[in-house]
Amino acid sequence: MVEDSVDIYSIVVMVEDSVDIYSIVVMVEDSVDIYSIVVMVEDSVDTYSIVVMVEDSVDIYSIVVMVEDRLIMQPVCGAVINQNSPLSPSEGKSLKDEDVLQHLPVGTTATFYFRDLGAQISWVTVFLTEYGGPLLLYLMFYFRVPFIYAPKYDFTTSKHWVVHLACMCHSFHYLKRLLETLFVHRFSHGTMPLRNIFKNCTYYWGFAAWMAYYINHPLYTPPTIYGEQQVRIALIIFLFCQVGNFSIHIALRNLRPPGSKTRKIPYPTKNPFTWIFLLVSCPNYTYELGSWFGFTLMTQCLPVAFFTAVGFIQMTVWAKGKHRSYLKEFRDYPPLRSPILPFVL
Ligand SMILES: NC(=O)c1ccc[n+]([C@@H]2O[C@H](COP(=O)([O-])OP(=O)(O)OC[C@H]3O[C@@H](n4cnc5c(N)ncnc54)[C@H](OP(=O)(O)O)[C@@H]3O)[C@@H](O)[C@H]2O)c1
Repeated sequence: MVEDSVDIYSIVVMVEDSVDIYSIVVMVEDSVDIYSIVVMVEDSVDTYSIVVMVEDSVDIYSIVVMVEDRLIMQPVCGAVINQNSPLSPSEGKSLKDEDVLQHLPVGTTATFYFRDLGAQISWVTVFLTEYGGPLLLYLMFYFRVPFIYAPKYDFTTSKHWVVHLACMCHSFHYLKRLLETLFVHRFSHGTMPLRNIFKNCTYYWGFAAWMAYYINHPLYTPPTIYGEQQVRIALIIFLFCQVGNFSIHIALRNLRPPGSKTRKIPYPTKNPFTWIFLLVSCPNYTYELGSWFGFTLMTQCLPVAFFTAVGFIQMTVWAKGKHRSYLKEFRDYPPLRSPILPFVL
């Protein structure tokens, strides 16, 4: 986008690999009319560079460059480089959707490099598939549909009340995640690569089936160390962390006005579950970890403990990354915070 493009005379659009690209649309907007220049790139033609000249830019307010591929309109991506000190595309900086061309370090000519992102899928679709799978798979094991256990157990239910409780907790957790994806989260990314859905689903579906197989197995034995008391404490931990996780998601949602992509420093709100923000950068992960710890204690099942451990490692890696970017982005970031576990990690 160019707000007031007094000095910009030409835009060069470089397309690295045009195999999947169907068209590039360059929109030039002035104060009164919108002039649209459409540059078509035919499939499989080896077109690498398209030059769009804007003759007189005095009145031009914004230039939007869109690349259309098979699945989506992908806004400007790739790198922008300064014509006076040419860099290779890999050395350039990726543009954000909301970047303004005039504020970028370009001279009178701006060059954009486009990268083919490959097939993309909407972020919401990915989450719905990821979370819908575990919900349904677990219920199949719970109701002991045929071909899982011996035929004599088909459509029978466990005699242990903890198995029913575990099913309610597991279903509640994934229903909550599905509803949050639809109605709470305000994601900043529209899409992700299609291959991610296979990777993520293997992780979530695989673990859900593995845990469900053992918890709902006819030979499953409930916690024996501290018995019912252990299950009750585990349930309290689980529910407490679910409410905490939801509270953090609401707090994060409220940081971002609808339709925007702004990122702010999250602070504790009036809700006591958010006070953990005083000590932790990503408390939604802390509460998520707590929920799975509670579920492990409740079921006393090894695959659940394994899932909790793997989730903990994954969330720690993400929390460290998010913590680092908070420190980089905000100079006044509260120094007392740790990424995921207060004072520890
Ligand atoms: N069990 C597991 O293995 C596991 C692993 C990961 C996640 N989860 C669960 O899934 C939930 C969501 O995961 P996630 O990785 O997407 O969480 P996240 O990165 O913390 O993001 C949650 C939402 O808040 C937004 N957000 C985060 N920080 C923000 C800020 N500073 N300002 C404004 N908005 C902000 C995010 O927007 P953006 O789109 O901009 O990021 C996103 O919409 C977790 O809280 C957890 O409950 C579970």
